[in-house]
Amino acid sequence: MSTQALRSDLIYLVTGAVGFIGYYLSKKLLDQGCTVIGIDNVNDYYDVNLKYTRLQGLEPYENFAFVKANISDKAVIDDLFAQYRPNVVVNLAAQTGVRYSLENPDIYMQSNVIGFYNILEACRHYPVDHFIYASSSSVYGANKKVPFEESDFVDHPVSLYASTKKSNELMAHTYSHLYKIPTTGLRFFTVYGPMGRPDMAYYDFTDKYFAGESIKIFNNGDFENDLYRDFTYIDDIVEGIVKVIPRTPEGDVQHEVFNIGNNNPEKLMHFITSLEKALSNALGKEVEFKKIYEPIKLGDVPRTYASTERLNQAVGFKPQTPIEEGLQKFADWYVQYHDLFKGKTLKQNN
Ligand SMILES: NC(=O)c1ccc[n+]([C@@H]2O[C@H](COP(=O)([O-])OP(=O)(O)OC[C@H]3O[C@@H](n4cnc5c(N)ncnc54)[C@H](O)[C@@H]3O)[C@@H](O)[C@H]2O)c1
Repeated sequence: MSTQALRSDLIYLVTGAVGFIGYYLSKKLLDQGCTVIGIDNVNDYYDVNLKYTRLQGLEPYENFAFVKANISDKAVIDDLFAQYRPNVVVNLAAQTGVRYSLENPDIYMQSNVIGFYNILEACRHYPVDHFIYASSSSVYGANKKVPFEESDFVDHPVSLYASTKKSNELMAHTYSHLYKIPTTGLRFFTVYGPMGRPDMAYYDFTDKYFAGESIKIFNNGDFENDLYRDFTYIDDIVEGIVKVIPRTPEGDVQHEVFNIGNNNPEKLMHFITSLEKALSNALGKEVEFKKIYEPIKLGDVPRTYASTERLNQAVGFKPQTPIEEGLQKFADWYVQYHDLFKGKTLKQNN
């Protein structure tokens, strides 16, 4: 097991820096005295105000530079690497969302395939100590064997988003092999927390509650055989990335892939009642969502959860924040961010 410390004398380039994970990672690196160059095109896939709020949290740091740019623009990326010569690159910029990829496939190819390739090419021409990139639990497709292990067969992605992430793993392997670039892919499992993504279920449920709308739960209303999902708190994800940064893969081909998930799947209904409780605490009154139960969606697997053995062996860390704790932090942030305690912005659901 390697327990190297993060080096604060290096230059870290973080793509997707005002995204959910990118913001927290950049902040953590800056807090440790590192220099961070953040790139993001601040696209409007979800509310850009949230992205600018995150940016405001990074701008006061002297060691932070922000570049509003699209990673699919090869010339811009090339110039950026030439100018800053980063030692470590963490690629988090991507078009996210599984459902959105049915309607908008082009953007996934641009950002996740062409953009990713541009970053790899830049790492080839301006050599880096370590290239780390976001993959996703979606590469496991409809696999039924749990927990999901990195050695499992992942050649059956069931969305274009998942195929772009699997492609990233393949391209990274090739560049490690051909150009000796140390690369590590991280398969994240549903990340949540304060300032999280409004397109994700826990955030959307909360929005719906305050708008007085019902939430749809795709589990047949069957609580005995409920779906199980692995939810990972943002601080655990960031801790995992920071631990992986100084650990470059060994071997002929310096490429490795790790799951970062909680390894403790939760029943969907338990997650929802924990969210209700967290919001009740944050508001000081009883919160109960109006629920509509729908059939399980085609292709949904009963359980998704990560084996974290490989990560733990490599860096001595595995995520373990309980959902009650993580959701409370989300709920407290949400209520404060939307100024709901004073009942100012959104319609209350009484
Ligand atoms: N959050 C999760 O649960 C989760 C799960 C699995 C994988 N991931 C992966 O982790 C990474 C970060 O996810 P996140 O949750 O922070 O998402 P996010 O959408 O909040 O962040 C992505 C950021 O990248 C930026 N971006 C997108 N396309 C770009 C482009 N072409 N050029 C420059 N910037 C671009 C967006 O503006 C956004 O700010 C993504 O690669 C995502 O696929 C996230």
